[in-house]
Amino acid sequence: MSHDDFPTENPAVVTCGLPYANGDLHIGHLRTYISGDAFARALETLGQETAFVSGSDMHGTPVAVNAEKEGVDPEEFALRHHEKYAETFPRFNVEFDNYGHTHDETNTELTREIVRTLDEKGYVYEKEIQVAYDPEDDQWLPDRYVEGTCPYCGERARGDECDEGCGRHLEPGEIEDPVSSISGNPAEYRERTHKFFRVSEFEEYLSEFLDRLEGTSNARNQPREWIESGLQDWCITRDMDWGIDYPGEGGDDLVLYVWVDAPIEYIASTKQYSERVGAEEFDWATPWRDGEGELVHVIGRDIIQHHTVFWPAMLRGADYNEPRAVMASGFVNLDGAAFSTSRDRAVWADDYLDEGFHPDLVRYYLTTTGGFQNDVDFSWEKFQERVNGELVGTLGNFAYRSLLFAARNYGGAPDADTSEEVRERIEDAVADFGAAVNDYSLKEAGETAVSLAGFGNEYIQRNEPWNLTGEEPDRAEQVIYDCVQIAKAVAVLSAPILPGKAQRLWEQLGEDGSVHDAPLDAALESPPGEFDEPDELFEQIEDERVEELNADLEERVEAASEEADGESDGTAADESASGDADVEPISEDRISFEEFQDLDVRVGEIEVAEPIEGADDLARLEVDIGAETRQIVAGIKQLHDLDELPGERVVVLANLEQAELFGVESDGMLLAAGEDADLLTTKGDSEPGTKIR
Ligand code: MSP
Ligand code: ZN
Repeated sequence: MSHDDFPTENPAVVTCGLPYANGDLHIGHLRTYISGDAFARALETLGQETAFVSGSDMHGTPVAVNAEKEGVDPEEFALRHHEKYAETFPRFNVEFDNYGHTHDETNTELTREIVRTLDEKGYVYEKEIQVAYDPEDDQWLPDRYVEGTCPYCGERARGDECDEGCGRHLEPGEIEDPVSSISGNPAEYRERTHKFFRVSEFEEYLSEFLDRLEGTSNARNQPREWIESGLQDWCITRDMDWGIDYPGEGGDDLVLYVWVDAPIEYIASTKQYSERVGAEEFDWATPWRDGEGELVHVIGRDIIQHHTVFWPAMLRGADYNEPRAVMASGFVNLDGAAFSTSRDRAVWADDYLDEGFHPDLVRYYLTTTGGFQNDVDFSWEKFQERVNGELVGTLGNFAYRSLLFAARNYGGAPDADTSEEVRERIEDAVADFGAAVNDYSLKEAGETAVSLAGFGNEYIQRNEPWNLTGEEPDRAEQVIYDCVQIAKAVAVLSAPILPGKAQRLWEQLGEDGSVHDAPLDAALESPPGEFDEPDELFEQIEDERVEELNADLEERVEAASEEADGESDGTAADESASGDADVEPISEDRISFEEFQDLDVRVGEIEVAEPIEGADDLARLEVDIGAETRQIVAGIKQLHDLDELPGERVVVLANLEQAELFGVESDGMLLAAGEDADLLTTKGDSEPGTKIR
């Protein structure tokens, strides 16, 4: 790996987080694949040799649990989804050089080899741990087979991940109050021998690695916090049938944890690409192991820890190269809350395509709305606004009016040279594009093309070529030639984000071949002479259309929230969360009055309440507790209207040890009742700071 600017001498590999082969793709998933595709294309535009790979994630409980619920064999189930994904991606102009899957031979073999190496090098050991077990169904409950309470933040979580709370990866045995997600039976913990990877030995390496790591800042900052709080070794085996068998000594009835073989598919998929095109064309071993390469992982923010802690430790332990960059996008949400696949609370990839929208529209929306790290609240209005404003109004309008004028008056590009002003403007755009890619900013890369088109509109308006053709034909030719040159540059610069539309523009300009093979310099090369009248690149999205789409989406979101509020949708978590659940039994363990006095509980008054960006449930509060004002993080973002909280009297546990949640320090705890976090308050008007005894 180098830290030289792209393009470098080394081959690059751009990967996308593998989709679990367990359900339909929604546009949240697409943010990963479209961004990966756009970034890989942008590198190629810069002249960087690049392989773009991914594959389906076939193993693990996300697949096994869903297959079990459907009553089908996990392999058959996963393959069905894999094939569907492989067909869907190209429909969004996401064109992988190789799209494999984790259950294929290449990945199975490579995974075994890597785990054997880690084992031989002493990085793997055995340990007895507590594993959740359903005694009634006589079944082990790894990962998503079990649900319960997160030991770090107290939110409901599933066995492998605190997906709705602090976002932490959870190790087996960590989740509290476990219940089976299949049967709803209460689970118990039983002792089992498992294999562990010594991640803790890589602590120093990882913290240096994070200093070098490029990409988005969230991918460095989040893991730094985890490392500072001390790395635990990582359990790499599971009690399941579905997965890759543990390859070393012992562990006969264990399979590898899905997060071991999943990222290895990045290597396996590159290897398959090499095997297909030949090692002279692209040798997988150069970037991954034997030489140097620029490895760039494009993922969503929920899987940062796997890519910046476990994965680089595995690579290092097995003597592979480390990633150069991790680009971790924010989430795509609806109404501020995450998509819910099981509740049909999502915008589905298929529905988008069925609407007949061109794939490039959602590519543009997803790559250029907000910063890459920010969550995007999907809305059809916003989608319409971006399409009608920038794509129709700026880019499409400029291309159409320039090329139409050129074709009608000159049968193509007139005979002239680019003016100095326009040449310089294009040179700036080209430089901005290079800088944006080196900054891992797709938004800025996309903006270079749109703002160049905006300049084109302004240029044509200012020079009024339609008034020049009669009296000053040379000037008119000059202006139109400039516009055709700008259009050509716009095609080159927009190609990574709008591959289909840029290709269309390229053809309208009378260019041969693919705009994706055009190097960045082509933006300044003279356009070919002749072309016909163009047609419009983009179509306006009408208000009625948006109203219909909205009505449909709102209906589904409402149905989903009714389902969430009311009875369950069949999972154990929903059942225990529903209002009519039995009252929790009173604890048998009595504490002494002295023990109670250890709690310093105070009346407080909320002064500030604001959401923590990126966290689904957490809010940051400033609470006046008399002698001082405390910053407290509370899981109430979804449950209360934050704007209404300032001024409320609350009850605060003031001497709870400090904690950090989502990078925000929490100094105390708000007391609240039940799943709805009903805030405790005082009946009279005790002042902030009053001690509760
Ligand atoms: N299989 C794992 C990744 C293994 S990588 C070695 C996984 N699969 S997933 O299907 O849940 O997600 C696939 C990709 O989509 C990930 O990059 C994930 O972050 C991203 N997203 C899934 N839902 C998302 C949103 N709602 N919004 C944005 N990205 C999201 O994780
Ligand atoms: Zn948590």
